[in-house]
Amino acid sequence: MQSELTADVEPIRFVGQTDGALELIDQTLLPVELTVITCRDVETVWEAIKLLRVRGAPAIGIAAAYGVVIGLQTVGDDDADLFWKRLDEVTDYLAGSRPTAVNLFWALDRMKRVAHQLRDAGRSIAEIRVALLAEAQAIHAEDRETCRAIGRHGAAELSQAANFLTHCNAGGLATAEYGTALAVFFTLQDDGKDLHVFVDETRPLLQGARLTAWELSQRKIPATLICDSMAAQVMREGRVDAIVTGADRIAANGDSANKIGTYSLAVLAKAHGIPFYIAAPISTFDMAIDSGDEIPIEERKSEEITHGFGKQTAPAGINVYNPAFDVTPAELIQGIITERGVISPVTREMVAQMFAGK
Ligand code: MRU
Repeated sequence: MQSELTADVEPIRFVGQTDGALELIDQTLLPVELTVITCRDVETVWEAIKLLRVRGAPAIGIAAAYGVVIGLQTVGDDDADLFWKRLDEVTDYLAGSRPTAVNLFWALDRMKRVAHQLRDAGRSIAEIRVALLAEAQAIHAEDRETCRAIGRHGAAELSQAANFLTHCNAGGLATAEYGTALAVFFTLQDDGKDLHVFVDETRPLLQGARLTAWELSQRKIPATLICDSMAAQVMREGRVDAIVTGADRIAANGDSANKIGTYSLAVLAKAHGIPFYIAAPISTFDMAIDSGDEIPIEERKSEEITHGFGKQTAPAGINVYNPAFDVTPAELIQGIITERGVISPVTREMVAQMFAGK
């Protein structure tokens, strides 16, 4: 049975104080079941990220930040040496869950920085623990604001467009709430605009079909599901004014990694004269890397392709290549919609200016 409205179910919720637990919507069960899982230890948080129970770059970062708080629960306030050893263990462990979305590493670095600053200021372990929970909550709360701002900038940029195409899921489920690419559509809807969205199903794990189609239907935004391979045809038929997707990591030159299949959409968009946009927060930029060539691309299990959702669809023993992400070169991107405004044209200089807040 189709799940009910999500309006009062938060994708990510931390319950309690420093000894509390993390609640997540299990995204692997959507759209058939809306089930909330509770993570009471760091292993469960790691597994939730690895298995995509929580996924999407900002959501992974938020979950990992709370995972640090949970991972430190095994150590008392009276053993400082053990606490600092455990902090390193927990952050390294969570960092090993998924390699591509930089928000994961950004959030873990932020948590470590706060802990170290307070240690240097002579604070007690009990105080640092409280501050770490506050930092995770701040990362979570900031992402809510960020998504709203991305929505506003994107809706202003795309106010003349009505027919969209998106890939994977860059919606409320992938963030604190509201999303990045989907925030643009939600804001246009809030502004009273009529719109329609083509949703790529997004092989092999169907985040488009299972999650984006679900979020759009929850909000009653007219949407049409297509197989990824149908995108060229709908573009050729003149049914797409603009493409908007999220991103997992953006290099200093604007090259953007996102779910596998995004790059081919950008190439198709260029062939059809359709503007291709990325919507992503500043926390998705990795200014330490020069270009998309340096972005680590996650490779996932071959069974995701040979046994999609448990059904064997390929001969046993066939070689499989399963990169989960691809990199879209900056020159194919019309604009990157951030919470600070739209980067366009997408050049190294424009990225640096936006990153510096100018
Ligand atoms: O493998 P996933 O489902 O975590 O991939 C997610 C994406 O590619 C999203 O488009 C991206 O993280 C942006 S989420 C706002």
